[in-house]
Amino acid sequence: MGKRTIRVGYAGNYREVEVNTPDAEPAPWDANSKLAVVGKRLPRLEGKDKVTGRAKYTADVKLEGMLIARVLRSPYARATVKSIDLEKARKMPGVKAVIEVDREVRFHGAPVAAVAAETEAQAEDALAAITVEWSVGAHVVDLEEARKPDAPRVQGGKNPNERGNEAQDTATEDACRKALDASHSTIDLTFRTPVVTHSCLESHGSVVRWEADGSLTVWDSTQAVFAVRDGVARAFQLKAEQVRVLKEHMGGGFGSKLGMSQHTVMAAKLAREAKAPVKLLLTRKEEHLAGGNRPSSVQRIRAGADKDGKLTCLWLESHGTGGVAGGAWCAGPLASLYACPTRRIWHADVMTNAGAAAAFRAPGHVQGMFALESAIDELAGKLNLDPIEFRKRNDANTLRHSEYGEGAQIAGWEKRAQLRGSAGPGKARGLGVAASIWGGGGGPGPQVRCVISRDGSVEVQCGTQDLGTGTRTILAQVAAEELGLTVNQVRVKLGDTALPFSTGSGGSMTAPSVTPAVRSAAAAALARVIEAVKGSIPGCEATDFAARGGKLESKTAGVSLGWAEACAKISGANVSEQATRSANYQGFRDGTAGCQFAEVEVDLETGHVQVLRIVAVHDCGLVVNPMLAESQICGGIIQGLSYALLEQRVLDNATGRMMNANLSDYRIAGPKEIPDIRVVLFDVANGRTNTGVMGIGEPSIIPTPGAIANAVSHALGKRVTDLPITPDKVLAALGKK
Ligand code: MOS
Repeated sequence: MGKRTIRVGYAGNYREVEVNTPDAEPAPWDANSKLAVVGKRLPRLEGKDKVTGRAKYTADVKLEGMLIARVLRSPYARATVKSIDLEKARKMPGVKAVIEVDREVRFHGAPVAAVAAETEAQAEDALAAITVEWSVGAHVVDLEEARKPDAPRVQGGKNPNERGNEAQDTATEDACRKALDASHSTIDLTFRTPVVTHSCLESHGSVVRWEADGSLTVWDSTQAVFAVRDGVARAFQLKAEQVRVLKEHMGGGFGSKLGMSQHTVMAAKLAREAKAPVKLLLTRKEEHLAGGNRPSSVQRIRAGADKDGKLTCLWLESHGTGGVAGGAWCAGPLASLYACPTRRIWHADVMTNAGAAAAFRAPGHVQGMFALESAIDELAGKLNLDPIEFRKRNDANTLRHSEYGEGAQIAGWEKRAQLRGSAGPGKARGLGVAASIWGGGGGPGPQVRCVISRDGSVEVQCGTQDLGTGTRTILAQVAAEELGLTVNQVRVKLGDTALPFSTGSGGSMTAPSVTPAVRSAAAAALARVIEAVKGSIPGCEATDFAARGGKLESKTAGVSLGWAEACAKISGANVSEQATRSANYQGFRDGTAGCQFAEVEVDLETGHVQVLRIVAVHDCGLVVNPMLAESQICGGIIQGLSYALLEQRVLDNATGRMMNANLSDYRIAGPKEIPDIRVVLFDVANGRTNTGVMGIGEPSIIPTPGAIANAVSHALGKRVTDLPITPDKVLAALGKK
């Protein structure tokens, strides 16, 4: 390790810090770095392949003799298979394999059996030929019903279906009551958010082929090729190196594809039985039922502040359901965003007979931030304080203060009071704000190999995956920067467990975790090229070799070689260097801040909410490619808007079935809902790795629902506390039927 002094921070708040960095790593990029390729707005390298249809997704994989699989799923929310007859299905035309999956089903859509046939139609006919004798049990799908003492047990065991837990270091109820009693102003509000289902453009799916040597190749739509490899290896008692998982292009994951899924195991079992490759892609309906979801929440927030607008108490009691899974915890923002002397958090996961929750873009933070920022606005109202001023008084992060300043200016915050009535008859406008908070600093683990060949070609190899976010492009940019090349001179290979190890793409971790290793590997490979060049000059001692502008140059040695010329000095076919991502340095600060402003127009007759504009101010350390970062932020905003106004899973209490398991009844934001979006990328030199890059996928969705809810509340003068904010709730808030 060596000490290096770097310049970190943001406009108006830069400072020099000393960081300990591994000797093998290049000097960290900091506020003084002048970069040529990193920071450029470049289109995705695979963009042409995607728009021309050349890019191969899992659905496009076609193998010799490949069969198509379909899954028989439970029509009941709770049932036992008393008997199942698969024989008729086995004898249907084209059917090559039939397997049983599960006899105990606990939600509508749970897999029961699966078939593989030569065509999709044959597979579906075979499903219809399976006869099942069911013993239907009592189910519970409603959150509050499931909490009652006499509710059917979802997982057996003791009632209620509730798993309560307190946060660490939490104040007692008595301490909270005391703090609230002594407060100048208090609020006590309950917020509700629905279960929303994962709706990736590309559904879950695998293509599986058993090889002659007993090893397995899996093409899977996954955020974590290595996690799928390890899961599949465990499921079939293989060694990890006997399983190869590939993911070349992807249509989104958002947390629903972070590990091995059941469909992959089903496909592999069918393929083994059929002795042929099998493709199993989930349908849109299956995605809604069993593809994972964001848990619901009911959040009671009691909060108080003193006469100076300082928070005195934050008390959250929450519960929510992730169906047959847990994971409804949503206290993250309330636990960490604001300074507060008395804080209490209690939460329960409630089990219901519904599809299992999965991580979903900033798990817990989206529902938690909506409730917290709604509560903060209400309290600001009671104190007669400007919502931003109230936030600043309780938020120790001065980076976010600066972001509020910049966003307020663009959003026209100072004219907020006049905005309300500016909409014309029968309509009202409102402007609201909310904060973001996330980690996103990445972590150690990923390994990257950089291969530079005698002909000057450069290949960056890493088994990470590009979820559609542009990972391939930013890795090429980082390597090009280090080697003084353009992105077109760098080839990136990823999405393959045969490549060097990388961690899963979740937690907005990919860019910050992988880019430092790319830099280190590229720097190490470049050092080998420099050695080769020096070796070709008798007695050369120069230490000032540098790669820039497509040249390798040394003033002292009087050398200026074109890249290909320099690489021609390599002895042997190529130089190949591998680097491992090291731990984060101390640097500037952990985590990202950020905030968003929403301007809405509400139709007071129909209750329809139209979001006119979102101003999003976000920081994510060094921005490798502003076009891709903005694209991530727009995606987060659209998904957040969709959550705030439209999406909700509807289950029928009587049958336990999902009533809107399709994309016409399950509404997602489309072009008509998408507002004018203005993104501001706030410059922060983070200095926690050699690139200083941070993640932005999740921070961008966190503030959107709260900002929209606060804007609606500003427009109406009344608060809607339940998401989605549908016209009926708006009219109810206005006292209209
Ligand atoms: Mo994410 S919810 O970390 O893929």
